Amino acid sequence: MAGIGIVVGILVTLVAVLIPWLPTSASEEMDRIEFVFWFATVICIGIFALVASVIIYSVLTFRSPPEDESDGPSIHGHTGLEVAWTVVPAVLVVAIGVLSAVVLSQNGNAGPNPLPVKVFALQFAWRFEYPEQNGLKSGELVLPVGRSVRFEMQSADVIHSFWIPEMGQKQDLVPGITTRVVVTPKREGTFRLVCTELCGLGHATMRAPVRVLSQAKFDAWVKQQQAGAGAGDKGAATFAAAGCGGCHTFTPAGTNGKIGPSLDNVAADAKKAGEDVRAYVKESIVDPNKVIAQGYSAGVMPRSYGQSLSAEEIDALVQYLAGSTQ
Ligand code: CUA
Repeated sequence: MAGIGIVVGILVTLVAVLIPWLPTSASEEMDRIEFVFWFATVICIGIFALVASVIIYSVLTFRSPPEDESDGPSIHGHTGLEVAWTVVPAVLVVAIGVLSAVVLSQNGNAGPNPLPVKVFALQFAWRFEYPEQNGLKSGELVLPVGRSVRFEMQSADVIHSFWIPEMGQKQDLVPGITTRVVVTPKREGTFRLVCTELCGLGHATMRAPVRVLSQAKFDAWVKQQQAGAGAGDKGAATFAAAGCGGCHTFTPAGTNGKIGPSLDNVAADAKKAGEDVRAYVKESIVDPNKVIAQGYSAGVMPRSYGQSLSAEEIDALVQYLAGSTQ
């Protein structure tokens, strides 16, 4: 019995050390996922402790002396034991399965009045659109607390995956189909949306800031964004909303991405290519593989990037990037 004590002690210590590394729940869905996780984990710890203890006990108790070469007693089955080790695991597996199915169904239910948000993923950025807020576009995901959000997600190029660790829900974005996921933020705070499907050279940088605000602050943010969309620098707004800074350094925008060439040098790069700087910037967005800056590879920035921007947005970006270097 000392065996069980030692094994359980080691497992409890391990779990206690690991718990602080787990994300703290920030959504109703994550609460349910955590419940299933701990339900299954506690069962697993119990079974592991039991099996490991029996092994330790048997090895120590039934060890035969080196000179003993006789056979042990022969055993012809034990009906009670066999029934027990079939029925008990079957009950546990069914319990875990039923609980998981209930949670899966609850986590897919957005309720009567969800906030719709469209998500667009592309190598290597996230963009968000709010149909209920007059199609407001943003490169940052801002959500009101306490209301279910129904994400409708599309990918422009390869498979990406949506994951905010504190919110639990995880869903792939697959080119050609629209996938959906529901998240109900339960506390205000700042989080991070990360891509969790290896999608290319910039996968590790494919992140977007997430802010959960009170309903009043969310409404204020929407108003402010809508007011800002008409005025101000459209190029800077497009640069931020398109997530260019995830891969490119551009000092006026305060970004320091390292995947693609620094946009601080577009004038010099255009000169090397023998092109006018505006034409060069536009071409680099629309047909990025035509001229590759020295030290970078073709195909990292896909054509889909330019295709996902309107002509007006591209003009604004060209003005912003080429204009500030002259
Ligand atoms: Cu997108 Cu990894």
